[in-house]
Amino acid sequence: MEATIRTENLSRMYVTRDKARRRIVALNQVNLEVHPGELFGVLGPNGAGKTTLIKILTTLLTPSSGRAWVLGYDVERQYRRIRPFINMVSGGETSGYGLLTVYENLWMFAQFYGLPTDVARRRIHALAEQVGLVDRLNTKVSELSTGLRQKVNVVRGFLTDPLVLFLDEPTLGLDVQAARDVRAFVKEWMAEHPNRTLVLTTHYMLEAEELCDRIAIIHRGRIVACDTPAALKQRLPQQASFRIEIAFQGEFSPAYLGNLPGVRRVWMRKTPRGAHLDVYLEADEVLVRVLEALLQHQARVLSLEKRTPTLEDVFLHLVGETWDPDDQEQAA
Ligand SMILES: Nc1ncnc2c1ncn2[C@@H]1O[C@H](COP(=O)(O)OP(=O)(O)OP(=O)(O)O)[C@@H](O)[C@H]1O
Ligand SMILES: [Mg+2]
Repeated sequence: MEATIRTENLSRMYVTRDKARRRIVALNQVNLEVHPGELFGVLGPNGAGKTTLIKILTTLLTPSSGRAWVLGYDVERQYRRIRPFINMVSGGETSGYGLLTVYENLWMFAQFYGLPTDVARRRIHALAEQVGLVDRLNTKVSELSTGLRQKVNVVRGFLTDPLVLFLDEPTLGLDVQAARDVRAFVKEWMAEHPNRTLVLTTHYMLEAEELCDRIAIIHRGRIVACDTPAALKQRLPQQASFRIEIAFQGEFSPAYLGNLPGVRRVWMRKTPRGAHLDVYLEADEVLVRVLEALLQHQARVLSLEKRTPTLEDVFLHLVGETWDPDDQEQAA
């Protein structure tokens, strides 16, 4: 089967505008294939290159080197062929005309795309119903909260029934409930339209895990792994991991635990009461040693939890660092 999206050594450089004129490699030799019907995730921290990739695939930006094809068409040379079949939604964008109502905005957009009147009307109502916007159709966009505005953006993306849809951080800045609504909608739409292809970028690991059939993990412009969430987690070495919340007086260093036999890695994050420790052990039994060491260093255990592997662990394993986990709550 022909891939819906394919990239070959796709790279993109930027040169900063300041005096230094630094060269930034935003995408570095990216090779990807996305298949028809897939909900494909691109997961990575801030600055990893997600938006750059989406902009190239949506023909808004040209590659510096390498090539990419969408629906078999070259993004550089045949961009006109691609555009009618795709659509894109970016999180955090403030699009639309504030003075017009939600319905008028969506209607106008449908007109740009040449949707027949009755189709446009039907789709606007159906999509608004699905994302929980139906009672806001007559509200001016300027009077909507950020979350509701983002839902309008999402509806706009799906309105044209694109063959390939790109969602760049679709839940960015949404509250937990609105983010859930959007994710539920994306899932439902893909289930109802099995021959459509969707590429979603996110820096929320749980979001990627919940939604995506396959995930490309991107870090500093490179794809460091690409597989199903389950297969990505299977790459982790067999280990036991625990999250321990501790309270302590004075100082506590993760090195107190890191050097114990059987301890693979310790991550510490300070909290108002003390710290969260994520400890990765060769086996469950090593935990006894860890608890002893905590006692020795006058750290009190407030809570202890055995963790199943997450994509966070995969990222940590592949890249050797993690990104701000406090930022991840919205995707819960
Ligand atoms: N127009 C530009 N000029 C210079 N550098 C840029 C430009 N756009 C992006 N970059 C740089 O390229 C790299 C990749 O940026 P990109 O926006 O693709 O990342 P991202 O994964 O979408 O990040 P975020 O999660 O913050 O949206 C970053 O280092 C960024 O600073
Ligand atoms: Mg981005």
